[in-house]
Amino acid sequence: MKILVLGGGGREHAVAAALARSPRVDKIWCAPGNGGIAAVAECVPVKATDLDGVLQFCLQNRPDLVVVTPDDPLALGMVDLLEEHGFAAFGPRKNAAVIEGSKSFAKDLMARYGIPTAGCRIFDDMEAALAYVSGCPVPVVVKADGLALGKGVFICQTRAEAQDAVRAVMGERLFGDAGARVVIEEFLTGPEVSVLCFTDGETIVPMPAAQDHKRAFAGDRGPNTGGMGAFTPVSCYTPAIARQCMDSIFLPTIRAMKAEGREFRGVLYFSLMLTEDGPKVIEYNCRFGDPETQAVLPLLRSDLLEIMLAVREGRLKTVPVEFDGKACCCVVMASGGYPGSYRKGLPVFGIEGAEKLGCTVYQAGTERKDGMLVTSGGRVLGVSAVAGTLKDAVDLAYRGVWRIAFYGAFYRQDIARKDPAVHRSASAETPAAAAPKARVDWS
Ligand code: AMP
Ligand code: GLY
Repeated sequence: MKILVLGGGGREHAVAAALARSPRVDKIWCAPGNGGIAAVAECVPVKATDLDGVLQFCLQNRPDLVVVTPDDPLALGMVDLLEEHGFAAFGPRKNAAVIEGSKSFAKDLMARYGIPTAGCRIFDDMEAALAYVSGCPVPVVVKADGLALGKGVFICQTRAEAQDAVRAVMGERLFGDAGARVVIEEFLTGPEVSVLCFTDGETIVPMPAAQDHKRAFAGDRGPNTGGMGAFTPVSCYTPAIARQCMDSIFLPTIRAMKAEGREFRGVLYFSLMLTEDGPKVIEYNCRFGDPETQAVLPLLRSDLLEIMLAVREGRLKTVPVEFDGKACCCVVMASGGYPGSYRKGLPVFGIEGAEKLGCTVYQAGTERKDGMLVTSGGRVLGVSAVAGTLKDAVDLAYRGVWRIAFYGAFYRQDIARKDPAVHRSASAETPAAAAPKARVDWS
C-alpha cells in the first residue's frame, strides 16, 4: 500500500517509521517531512495545512491511506475533504476534531456527560471575564478557547495576572481569533499523564501512558515548549487508575461524541491530572502527542497500518493492539534559544553514534542542505531508547544524547527523573499530596 503522512516533526517521524515496519507498506510519502523522515519516506514540499495542495498530490499519486497527524489540518477538515474525493484518511473529521479545537466545546461536553474535569466559566465578553477574575479564587487558569500552538494557557497566581491574561487573550488577541472566547478554569494539582488511545468511535484502546515535560528547563522551570521529552510507563498511572479512567473518562467520552453525532475515529489523546479527587481531564487532543508518540510507538508490537485501517473501518476490536511491556524514554534536543528565537542551518553530528548504541533518533527540526544534515527548527530531534526498565531506558537515551552535537544544543537533564522507578530518593511528596486543601464551589 502507498501511504501519505501529513506533518513534519518528530511525531511524524515516529509514525512513518512505525508504518514502514508494516509488511503491507510499499511506499511512504511525507508532506512536508524533514531531514530525518527522508530516510523512511519520500518528502514532498506540501504543507500539512495546504488543503488544496494535499488534495492535488493525492489526485496525482493516489495514496491508499492518508494519515493526518497534526491538529491544524484536522481542525481545517482535511479528513472530510479527502474522503469527499474518495481517499481513505486516518484521523477524526472536522466535527470530531473540535474536541481539541474548541476548549469550550470540550468543557461543555464533559459537563453534560459527567466526565470529570476542572470547574470552569466561559466568557465571550472581555469585560465580563475581567469582572469575574477580579473576584475569583486563585491560582486560576486562563485559556484561549481555540488552537494556540499549545501556548494559550496561563496559570495565574494572582487576580492581577489573570486580568492581564484575559486582556492579552481577548483584548490584544495574542492568539488571534482563538482568543475570541476564554475558558477560566479551576486550578488543579497532581501528576499529569498523557494517554493516547486508538478509537473507532465504538472501541477504545489506550496505548501505554506517557508523561511529557512541557517546560524548557530542568525542574519544570522556564517557558512552555512543545515538549522537551517523554517517557513510559508512568508509575503513578496504576492499573487501578487506568481502569477508573476507562470507566469514567475514556468510554464516556467516545460515547458522548457518538451521541452528539460526532463519532471520533483516530487517536484521541487524554491529557489527565491525577488529583486527590481522582483523574480529571485537563484537555483532549484529537491526534498523536509530540513527543509522547516518540516514547510510545517504539513499543508497539502490532502492525500500525492494520490498526489504522481498522480504526477507519470501525473494526478496531478485531485487530491486535499489543505493546511490549518495556520502558521507553525520549529526550528532545533543541536549538539554543528555543522556545524564543534561535539560529538555523547549524550542522548536526553524531546521530549514527547514538543509533549504534541502540537509540532511535527521531528528527523534528532538521533538513538536508548540500548533503549535510542541519538544524531547521526549535526542537531539532528526539533521542528515544527502549529498555527493560525505565532506569535503563533513561540511561541509554542520555548516552545517545551525549553522542550528538550541534552548536547551542540544549536538552533537559531530568526527563523521567520525577518517576520513582528511575530515582527513588526523589521527593516522596507528589504534587497531589501537596495540593491546597481549600475547596471552591465552581458550579
Ligand atoms: P494545555 O495546553 O491545556 O494542555 O495546558 C498546558 C499545561 O497547563 C498543562 O499541561 C497543565 O500543566 C497546565 N494546566 C492546564 N489546565 C490546568 C488546570 N486546570 N489546573 C492546573 N494546571 C493546568
Ligand atoms: N505533548 C503535547 C502535545 O502533543 O500537545
